[in-house]
Amino acid sequence: MERKWWQEEVIYQIYPKSFKDSNGDGIGDIRGITEKLDYLKDLGVTMLWICPVYRSPMDDNGYDVSDYRALAPEFGEMEDLEELIREAKRREIKIMMDLVINHSSDEHEWFRKALEDPESRYHDYYVFKEGTEIPNNWRSIFGGSVWEKVPGRDEYYYHTFGKKQPDLNWENEELRKELYDMVNWWLDQGIAGFRIDAISFIKKDLTWESREPDGVDGLVKCTKTSRNWPGIEKFLYELRNETFDKHCCVTVAEAAGVPYDKMDEFIGEDGFFDMIFDFRYADLDIASGSEWFKRIPWTVKELNEKIMASQMTMQKYGWTANFIENHDQPRAASKYLKEAQDNPDAVKMMAAMYFFLRGTPFIYQGQELGMVDFERTSIEQFNDISSIDQYYRSIEEGLTEDEALKIVNLRSRDNARTPFPWNGEKYGGFSEETPWLEMTEEYPKINANAQVGQQGSIYEFYREMIAYRQSGPHRDTLIYGAIEPVETGDDVIAYRRYTDEESICCLFNFSGEEREETLPSENGTPLWGNLDHVSVDGNKIRLQPYQAVLIKEKM
Ligand code: GLC
Ligand code: CA
Repeated sequence: MERKWWQEEVIYQIYPKSFKDSNGDGIGDIRGITEKLDYLKDLGVTMLWICPVYRSPMDDNGYDVSDYRALAPEFGEMEDLEELIREAKRREIKIMMDLVINHSSDEHEWFRKALEDPESRYHDYYVFKEGTEIPNNWRSIFGGSVWEKVPGRDEYYYHTFGKKQPDLNWENEELRKELYDMVNWWLDQGIAGFRIDAISFIKKDLTWESREPDGVDGLVKCTKTSRNWPGIEKFLYELRNETFDKHCCVTVAEAAGVPYDKMDEFIGEDGFFDMIFDFRYADLDIASGSEWFKRIPWTVKELNEKIMASQMTMQKYGWTANFIENHDQPRAASKYLKEAQDNPDAVKMMAAMYFFLRGTPFIYQGQELGMVDFERTSIEQFNDISSIDQYYRSIEEGLTEDEALKIVNLRSRDNARTPFPWNGEKYGGFSEETPWLEMTEEYPKINANAQVGQQGSIYEFYREMIAYRQSGPHRDTLIYGAIEPVETGDDVIAYRRYTDEESICCLFNFSGEEREETLPSENGTPLWGNLDHVSVDGNKIRLQPYQAVLIKEKM
């Protein structure tokens, strides 16, 4: 694969509502991000992905856009964003914005006009069906039917996500053109690219046929009826052609459920995007992405297999985006390490495991501190619409209230959205006023102030690890090298990163006990890891509990 500039980035994801409040209203904002640029520069990240800051009624915290060309007042003014872009650039940090174009808010002017006047051209910007009965039995991602009745008319509108997030009708050429103009306008503002939200849903099955129900509610999840639906290629190709191709930018798509044998179309040489997130191992604890109550047990061996299957597929066709956390996922320490979530060695091991995979690494705010999930005692304490829906849905499916609360605690998107703990003082230095969402209980202990500059802290480990990938003596291999799995026992994940010149074997012990592994070759040299001591003897390595180690192989 020809080298691309974005392969060298380390991308840090910011959930603006929870990063830093600059004006004491309890809500994080753009100026708060600008204030903390030195912290990010010091960590070593090279690009920020900022979750939506556009004008929005915040029903889904900004993933419901009511004006694509204006900012939400609680986040700031356009000048604040310009300042952020400028100040970031001064520190050689690029800015990636979030692009939410599968749906808008029901408070978007287009939707308001569509409702006011069914004859207006905006009516066809959305998906409406006339009739007195619900058009089919598809279930939305945030619960209930995908159809919502239009008040006062025998008509329904379609929403893949929440009721206040009506889907845009991509079949309408004028709408597509408006979206492309908007995308080009943003790219002209000096941003480096886009993370593209929920893009797999833009093409619907136009037969609108009902299907076999998959729940006691008689509905069927819309991921089965209108995700990556044939015909989507035409829209995605056109989107790329009319926008991204005209700029030097990077795109990473949230394109869940793309079959591996279709990956070429998405990320290949002529692909729609530069990279996509693969959720197959992020969601290994649930039977299907957005149904939290269908929990399944998993093992490190399965995690290993899923990661390697993903890596080998992505390598075959192009490049990928590696992540263990985001604003929709639980904290990685809690999800993947379970009882070991408070063990810094384990947290560092996990970090190195995903960070040296082949692809561009993404770090979600707070991940670099080893933040953990919370436990809430009542459904009233949640903000996330998805948590509330999954709570009631699982009760409907037969779970008790206690069981429902348990699974919501494990999976709630609020876990990742708690305000960033800058220090151990009141409200964690996030704000002077009560934050919009409760902090984690651990913040007096797990916070930036307690870790920055502290030898051995998780933050300092991330800093060192980023520097090692970006500018260490083996950067070419660690960034551009090929990957292949190395066979191991059940609790150890291992892979080789290699070029024609060198080969580095990376091993990660997920067990709290020692493990002995056989290296692919003899007399390797330990390069880097999370623990001081590495015990290699010939082709045998004895890994300490939760040890991560990179070994240069003799060629
Ligand atoms: C994506 C976002 C999520 C949002 C949804 C609807 O999955 O990551 O936060 O709720 O799309 O826009
Ligand atoms: Ca604020």
